Amino acid sequence: MSDRRQRTDEILAALKSVVLNGEADGLAAGRIRSLTHCDGAVKAELLLDADSAATVRAAETALKKLPWVRDVRLSVVEPIAPTDQSPIRNIIAVASGKGGVGKSTVAVNLAAGLAARGLAVGLLDADIYGPSIPMMLGVRTAKPAVVTVNGKQMLAPVEAHGLKLMSMGFVVEEGKPVIWRGPMLHGALRQFFQDVAWGELDCLVVDLPPGTGDVALTMTQTISLSGAVVVSTPQQVAMLDAKKALQMFRETNVPVLGIVENMSGSVFGTGGALNWAEAEDVAPLGTIPLDARTCGAGDEGVPAVLSKAEDLARPFQKLVVAVEAALARRNAEQPARRALKLQS
Ligand SMILES: Nc1ncnc2c1ncn2[C@@H]1O[C@H](COP(=O)(O)OP(=O)(O)OP(=O)(O)O)[C@@H](O)[C@H]1O
Ligand SMILES: [Mg+2]
Repeated sequence: MSDRRQRTDEILAALKSVVLNGEADGLAAGRIRSLTHCDGAVKAELLLDADSAATVRAAETALKKLPWVRDVRLSVVEPIAPTDQSPIRNIIAVASGKGGVGKSTVAVNLAAGLAARGLAVGLLDADIYGPSIPMMLGVRTAKPAVVTVNGKQMLAPVEAHGLKLMSMGFVVEEGKPVIWRGPMLHGALRQFFQDVAWGELDCLVVDLPPGTGDVALTMTQTISLSGAVVVSTPQQVAMLDAKKALQMFRETNVPVLGIVENMSGSVFGTGGALNWAEAEDVAPLGTIPLDARTCGAGDEGVPAVLSKAEDLARPFQKLVVAVEAALARRNAEQPARRALKLQS
């Protein structure tokens, strides 16, 4: 790990140790709007309410305990009240080079896991070929309500397991094939951002359509992503597909937060995806074992990450922590996500 990266991690750990509203983990990634450091001078913007002087002092003290820190400048940015121009601070895409590798499973568990850690999380099922997330969260028959926000009619996301959900599955009829053409797709995407009352979100997780074809590419270019999580299975041949996904993100300047090896174990092997990721200089985010209970959890509508069976939940919980850290690092090292621009 580079010195710089190590220092970034140390800053994040120090901020995380601050207690906020009686809870440790107070200044986790979702509360850090920007972070820079150079030669021991640390500068950060924290998303806090106006009367947070005590929290800011605690954060300063925690940072100054790091031996290499010589100057700390913290400022407070108040979260914007929800409007129809909803502030969504981070958008993470979950993608794969091909279908069936567990992209939706990872997206659901990542979103539910981040929400369980206290972040305000949305999940957008943008998989127009086979929206499966409503089923995985047990809300297959739910319909988003129409609400009026500032005089404008909007769709309220369906709430399930502590997160806000919107899916192509809610707007297209189940079992009916839809042929998406460019403008239609663009229109649907625009609606998902402008006509959905997301409110304030620390993070929106987007389940992209599988593959690297036109639709996935258009979405990657249209939605202003903070970063992407690539899902792959361990087999050698799966790496070819994962490589295509990496290329797509590199070409569209979307930072790849890392790779998840899913369905790891005696059937498909172990470590293939992560070894490959290391060679490609992509961060490993975790290994999810092939486990029939994961599949069952999806069918029953309760994400594995929330399961009481610790051995089932733990790999997903570790993944959630790794993604949160990768996102914080990304936000520390690169300028904020460019504003979401959807041309009509
Ligand atoms: N780690 C795992 N262990 C067991 N079953 C799994 C695991 N991950 C995913 N599955 C199962 O594999 C199937 C495919 O997973 P999922 O729908 O998440 O993949 P996907 O990449 O989103 O597929 P698609 O390309 O169709 O959208 C599902 O039935 C899911 O429950
Ligand atoms: Mg899927």
